[in-house]
Amino acid sequence: MAPGMLAVRGLVKDLVLDHMPRVLRRGAPDVKRVALTFDDGPDELTAEYLDLLDELGVPATFFLLGDRAEAHPDLLREYVRRGHQIASHGYDHQRFTKLGVRELLAQCKRTDAALGAQLTGRAWVRPPHGTLGAGSMAALIAAGYTLAMWSLDSLDHRGESADAVVATCAPERVRPGEVLLFHEGQRWTLDALPRIVGQLQAAGYECVTMQDLFAR
Ligand code: NI
Repeated sequence: MAPGMLAVRGLVKDLVLDHMPRVLRRGAPDVKRVALTFDDGPDELTAEYLDLLDELGVPATFFLLGDRAEAHPDLLREYVRRGHQIASHGYDHQRFTKLGVRELLAQCKRTDAALGAQLTGRAWVRPPHGTLGAGSMAALIAAGYTLAMWSLDSLDHRGESADAVVATCAPERVRPGEVLLFHEGQRWTLDALPRIVGQLQAAGYECVTMQDLFAR
């Protein structure tokens, strides 16, 4: 397939997602606010992420796995105690497209129970790998979920270079309302965060939770 086709397909996909109710990707473009979001926790580095965010004085949104949340109830309380938003990233990081509808909803329900009440009226879920077929999307929306995606991938899952992550999140690549995707459990992401927050704030951006970004 020609590269142009891929670009067009990506553009169409973005357009469709941007106009789906109950699918959140990018906040309002008229306010210089962005949301930092972190997937795949909690894990052994969570305490360091939370301490660093405290030092930087910014709140974030954490998309957590049900099985890891069940194993770390102590960490779960810490996210909330420190003013962060928590939401679901599925139970065990299986692609939603690989699960039958009944199993998908059972896994999401189990994750919700592990997380306790979410701040939002409707439970938010971010599909593992961002993989979402028409079937799983329809089932989740019918069950009352809001799908919380992202608009700028820091690509921090690709490698171990903090510099590369900082460059991907440079202010000239960021637009107001952006939802930035990061991951927990990575030392290089931790190393990149102070510079990312610093450069965004210097460019006039405020970091808020994803919940606040979409609350108008
Ligand atoms: Ni993930």
